[in-house]
Amino acid sequence: MKIVFSGPGSAATGALVVGVLDGNVLTPSAKDLDKKTGGALVRAIKSGTFKGRPGQSVMVLSPAGTKLDRVLVVGLGKPSDVNEQAMHTLGGQIYVALGDSGSKAATIELEAVKKSDLSVADMATGIAEGLRLRSYRFDKYQTKNKANGNGKPTLVSLTIRGVGAAKAQADFRSRDKVIDGVFMTRDLVTEPPNILYPDTLAKRCQELTKLGVKVEVLGEKQMARLGMGALLGVGQGSVRESKLVVMQWNGGGKPAKAGAKGLNKGKADQPICFVGKGVTFDTGGISLKPSAGMEDMKYDMGGSGVVIGLMKALAGRKARVNVVGVVGLAENMPGANAQRPSDVVTSMSGQTIEVLNTDAEGRLVLADALHYANDRFKPKFIVDLATLTGAIIVALGNEYAGLFSNNDKLSENLLAAGDAIGEKLWRMPQGEVFDKMINSDIADMKNISDGRGAGSTTAAQFLARFVGKTPWAHLDIAGVTWTKKDMPTAPKGATAFGVRMLDRMVADHYEKK
Ligand code: BES
Ligand code: MN
Ligand code: ZN
Repeated sequence: MKIVFSGPGSAATGALVVGVLDGNVLTPSAKDLDKKTGGALVRAIKSGTFKGRPGQSVMVLSPAGTKLDRVLVVGLGKPSDVNEQAMHTLGGQIYVALGDSGSKAATIELEAVKKSDLSVADMATGIAEGLRLRSYRFDKYQTKNKANGNGKPTLVSLTIRGVGAAKAQADFRSRDKVIDGVFMTRDLVTEPPNILYPDTLAKRCQELTKLGVKVEVLGEKQMARLGMGALLGVGQGSVRESKLVVMQWNGGGKPAKAGAKGLNKGKADQPICFVGKGVTFDTGGISLKPSAGMEDMKYDMGGSGVVIGLMKALAGRKARVNVVGVVGLAENMPGANAQRPSDVVTSMSGQTIEVLNTDAEGRLVLADALHYANDRFKPKFIVDLATLTGAIIVALGNEYAGLFSNNDKLSENLLAAGDAIGEKLWRMPQGEVFDKMINSDIADMKNISDGRGAGSTTAAQFLARFVGKTPWAHLDIAGVTWTKKDMPTAPKGATAFGVRMLDRMVADHYEKK
């Protein structure tokens, strides 16, 4: 989709989108068009239940007096309804209405909405962002002509007209890069697990070198040398080799040498760090999952997908920050060499783990990835993302991701960024009482707790044992990584939940001005 911004104008071809405020108050461009079409717009509006509310729309086909294919009249609601998230939703709604309507080009006419918080330029970038996010498609494996609304979209170019076009164009340039990251995440998460496994996922990471990201890939030999017994145990039942990928984007100046004094004291050039769970398929291992729904476990690499897409977003928009992304990649399979419930493994940190359930594998992968990231980079903070527990879906459904953290400031920053862009987080408890539930009689800890309660919290407690005193937050994204229904800014499938939120948090708090 080609998206351009231009100043107010008149002639348009293809589809034209105009707004109407709550109570059917026509914007000047809507009024204008109504006149030109001999009142066709107002007649169409009055023929139904349209009241100019957010989410409402009316389509007028080939109106007389114009060269247009169609006019889409959209409800903007009250001035107070015109905010950033509403513009994302509106962009998505416009794409749904016009994407495969037959029109190749569309023009959106925007005017200032009095008493709203947004300028015309901000409305324009918001709509463009939502529209492009909603236009995502994954059709590489569809070889036949598709019916059922599944055909190729017709809309290829979009012009958004209004004052402040230059600002909108400039602002959108960096948003567009973030969406490139979102699309990469969605591509990776959607890819089937016979195509995407640790080695091929690591190769996809290497594509980021084109953007100036430094990418290192560690194989099983190197990980064994480092003592990563927890991560390696997860992958040992698979014929696919486990990998650990380290991605570095140094947009914030020279990073201090590891081992220098005061590394953890928030020095400006110390990196921030994101760690992702990348289980490319989770059968459960010997603690095998039931077959119904097991196909969902292709998205068990969703956390790593977000970290990779985020690195692409930050490098793409040349963020002024030093950032490290670490993803632990393994396939959890049963097999003659698979680990057994009751195995004891030694993690890179030296701590031993009794593996009582091979399906609680994400925390094992993260134990070594987190320790490695913390030990090597001494980051300002670590945020990890993982489709870690089914229990978080019981607690929060598909609406919120769970936030677990040892640091209030970091939590606040994450919650604020999530609120701003519409990826919601809910902070969950942590503490001593939960920590002791994972003590083991045989080793330092066990990978499942006694009883069934607080499953997401005890999983997070396990991770906490591998980050030392570094400010850390864990996002359990099991419920939000994949959507079974269309969302305002994502068609059903992989959402890439986390990429835009974390990009926003970095922009708001950690970039050099
Ligand atoms: N990958 C799953 C968690 C999951 C469930 C992600 C549903 C996405 C959707 C994880 O590895 C797992 O199997 N967790 C177990 C932990 C249990 C054995 C303690 C679970 O949640 O049942
Ligand atoms: Mn599992
Ligand atoms: Zn898993």
